[in-house]
This record gives sequence, C-alpha cells and structure tokens, in this order.
Amino acid sequence: MARITCAALTKKYGDVVAVDALDLEIAHGEFMVLLGPSGCGKTTTLNMIAGLEEISAGRLSFDDAEVTWTPPHRREVAMVFQSYALYPNKTVRENIASPLPLRRQPAAAIDSAVAAAAAQLEITHLLDRRPNELSGGQRQRVALGRAIVRNPAVFLMDGPLSNLDATLRLSMRGLIKRLHQDLKSTFVYVTHDQAEAMTLADRIAVMRGGLIQQLDTPEGIYERPANLFVAGFLGSPPINLIEGVMAGGAFSRGGWRLALPNPPADGRSVTLGLRPEDVMVAAPGLARLDARVELVSPLGSETHLDVVAEGGLKLTLRVPKEWRAAVGDQIGFGIDPARLHLFDRASELRL
Ligand SMILES: Nc1ncnc2c1ncn2[C@@H]1O[C@H](COP(=O)(O)OP(=O)(O)O)[C@@H](O)[C@H]1O
Ligand SMILES: [Mg+2]
Repeated sequence: MARITCAALTKKYGDVVAVDALDLEIAHGEFMVLLGPSGCGKTTTLNMIAGLEEISAGRLSFDDAEVTWTPPHRREVAMVFQSYALYPNKTVRENIASPLPLRRQPAAAIDSAVAAAAAQLEITHLLDRRPNELSGGQRQRVALGRAIVRNPAVFLMDGPLSNLDATLRLSMRGLIKRLHQDLKSTFVYVTHDQAEAMTLADRIAVMRGGLIQQLDTPEGIYERPANLFVAGFLGSPPINLIEGVMAGGAFSRGGWRLALPNPPADGRSVTLGLRPEDVMVAAPGLARLDARVELVSPLGSETHLDVVAEGGLKLTLRVPKEWRAAVGDQIGFGIDPARLHLFDRASELRL
C-alpha cells in the first residue's frame, strides 16, 4: 500500500496551466476519485502520479519517499486506461502476463498469478482468446487483470468504464469496488460521471480548471457542497438554483418568501439551492411552494415534475411514484428549510 502526497503539484503546457498547485493527500488503501468536467486536469494529475507526465513544479511522494523524478516503472503503480491498451496480437493470457517477465519470475509463478487474476475477474474461459474476440467489458477485465498481476501499491484508473454501455458500466462498477475491497491497495480513479464517483469513492476531489473545488466524502460533497459549481455538478436532475435577496431574515424572490434557520444579513444577494428530491407534501411547519405542473416524467421508481412557481420560476422536482400529478395541476409543495443550500451570489461560496 502507499500513501500519496501531492504538494503544490503543477503542470503547465506552455501558457496553459493544466493542474494548478494541487495539494492532495491520499491515504493508504483509500479509493480516491478525481471528478470534474472535461479539461479540468484529471488525466494530467493521474499521469503525473503515474510518472507518464513530467511535473512542472511541486512535489509528489509515495509514503515518505519523494518520487517527483522517479521513472514510471519504478513507482509500483499500475494504470488502467479508458482505451484498454491491450496488445492486439497477444492472447488474454499473454496480455495479463505481459508485465511479469520483466521481473524474472519462474514460469510457474507467472502461470499461477495469471490464473488467480483471471479467476478473480471471471475471465478464465477467455484466456486463449485475442482482444478482437472480446467485448468491451471483457477487454477492460483483461486490462484490470494485467494491473492486478503486478501487485502494485497504487492502482490508477482513467475513465476505465467510459467506453462501456450503461448496463455494463453498472456491473463493472461493482467489480471495481469488490476489487478494491479485496486488494486493499490505494486506488486513484478519474471520471466525469458523478454516479460512478458517488458509488465508488471513499473521498471525491471535485476539480475545475486545474484546481480542487472540494475534497470530501460522497455524502459531504452532496449534502454540503462548498460552492455553486460543486452543487450544480452533482445530482441528477441537477439542483435547482434560485437567485434572490435576503430581506427580513428570509430568502426573498419576487413575492415568494422563505424563512431560513440561520439567515445571512439583509440585503445580501444569494442563490438558494433546492435539490429536486427535497420537496414533500405541504404540511404545517414546512415552507410552502405553490407551482403549476408543466411536464410529468414517470421513471417507474419515481417521477420527475417540471413545474413553474410564482414569478415564472422554473423548477424540476422528484416525487414518489405514488404522486398522481398531471400537466396543469396546481400543487402546494412543502420544503424543509433545513435541507436548503444557500450560496453567496458574488463569491459563489456556501453560506
Ligand atoms: N499535451 C498537452 N498539450 C497542451 N495542453 C494539454 C495537453 N494535455 C492536456 N492539455 C490541457 O490541459 C488541460 C487539462 O487536460 P486533462 O488533464 O486531459 O483534462 P481531463 O482529463 O480532466 O479532461 C486541458 O485544458 C487540456 O487542453
Ligand atoms: Mg481525461
């Protein structure tokens, strides 16, 4: 296992700062997910940890040893790519074994390591095939097998499930999570898929523009987003963001007023965040929101409602499937003020 410490880790491509003085400590055996939109610096960060990309400034350490300038093959890391990167002319068995001969192990040890990895990934029956005779999911299992046999201290995965269809992604997600539980190695996993990040991570680093926006557990990121960007990036459908101003201790927008538990000072311009699922049947003790239903999207397990509230405010809400709402219905929703998120409009930071 290895603890990974990034200290002011920086990557510049000419004038482009791809990763901007990133500080991040990843614990022994932790499953860390780097999450963010395309171009935010996830791959560059991973490649610097792998040694595939030269570090422009800052330090990288594994446990207490600095590895900033250590070549990749001496870092005890294994990388799994979105594109699988298998040898097309080698069999599955040879692909999985490919990192091993360099280490001069006896043939029997290699055979048993390959067999164990293949069994763990349930691809024993595929060992004599070549990559072009495999599905995408099977190819990614082979790539995982090739990583496992090296018994690395650190697994680095760059969008390993991005090329798979939705159903396969779900089952492969489970496989990767089990693998982490079995191997107890440190995992650093890059994705732009929030559901993948939420389900896999011990902690998530949400990135934007080469900077970490928030580092926290999945629950922490979802329940207490540090700023508007993080709030908007996680959640499906996305959080409703409502601009207003503080007046008389209440959030105020047009004629709609909402008393808040710890209100910021009057006059402050704020953005209120309402998760689509944080509405309920109107009841005493709850704030009330009256809205007209514009669109009903039943998903089976739940229903999404697009509604228009007072002042033309458009919201998307998630309600239990038992709610029988129809287009044109006027519904009074209940909102628990304690479940709302409040952000300063200028700084975009959570209040
Ligand atoms: N080889 C390169 N040359 C110049 N710019 C690059 C290079 N690789 C990445 N970048 C830039 O660095 C930024 C981060 O890229 P990347 O780490 O690939 O993002 P992500 O993996 O989050 O999509 C982007 O602005 C990208 O255009
Ligand atoms: Mg990338």
